[in-house]
Amino acid sequence: MILSVCGKGGVGKTTVSAVAAQALSREDGRRALVVDADPAGGLAVALGLEPRKTLNDVRKEIIEEVKAGGRDEKDLAVSLDYLLAEALTEQGNLALLSIGRPEDAGCYCKVNVILKDAIEGLAGRFDATIIDAEAGIEQVNRKVLSSVDYVLLVSDTSAKAVKVARTIKGVADQMIGGQGTGLLVNRARDADEAGAVERGTDLDVLGWVPEDDTVRRFDGEELSFLELPDCPARAAIVTALEKTGLI
Ligand SMILES: Nc1ncnc2c1ncn2[C@@H]1O[C@H](COP(=O)(O)OP(=O)(O)OP(=O)(O)O)[C@@H](O)[C@H]1O
Ligand SMILES: [Mg+2]
Repeated sequence: MILSVCGKGGVGKTTVSAVAAQALSREDGRRALVVDADPAGGLAVALGLEPRKTLNDVRKEIIEEVKAGGRDEKDLAVSLDYLLAEALTEQGNLALLSIGRPEDAGCYCKVNVILKDAIEGLAGRFDATIIDAEAGIEQVNRKVLSSVDYVLLVSDTSAKAVKVARTIKGVADQMIGGQGTGLLVNRARDADEAGAVERGTDLDVLGWVPEDDTVRRFDGEELSFLELPDCPARAAIVTALEKTGLI
């Protein structure tokens, strides 16, 4: 099961992803891959993890190897496996993969294709994968897997954020097709405010998450969301995640 958390900037994607990671970390016997696809690396911080190497670092190393010559594709696949393993930060049954900040280093399409296959292979080795996508749809499109099973759209109660979620759903339908989608309305004042959002959209609404002081505190004090205690926001996010089938 591969779930991607998508939405406009600042709506709560990383918060939702971090709560999902926490929930998965408590599922003994199930290995979970957590992909921080935001170049800013917010999810690693939210989980209190420090990646030694990002996927982009790995990409650069491969490019260097190709430049140095003397490597055929078979060799490359083997070293790629090794490099990818190095880019994983493990904690219990969780493994974090940080994408990092790509800078344009010319066209290495072939390298990127190999890399994409490798990531897909990597996701195949885990029982669940969760992707904290960069704001917008780009990541689902280009870098991250074409085999996302569920696109979890996150918005706040603003019309703008809901519109972005709707646009992402349209793009996802075109690109991937057949996957599940649902909207989680974050930071709603109450059920009435969330209800108004639901009436204004044709998206399937999975639920709503209240503004929550515990989340604010954990964010403000940079505490690990792996330690987030039970609180209204966590409960609402977990309920929504259960509906997606991830947990
Ligand atoms: N339910 C909530 N209650 C209180 N604060 C929240 C809630 N959800 C998110 N926040 C806060 O809102 C801010 C933005 O949340 P978050 O970083 O999860 O959004 P994001 O979509 O990942 O942003 P970006 O697009 O910049 O990556 C953070 O400071 C976070 O603590
Ligand atoms: Mg984020």
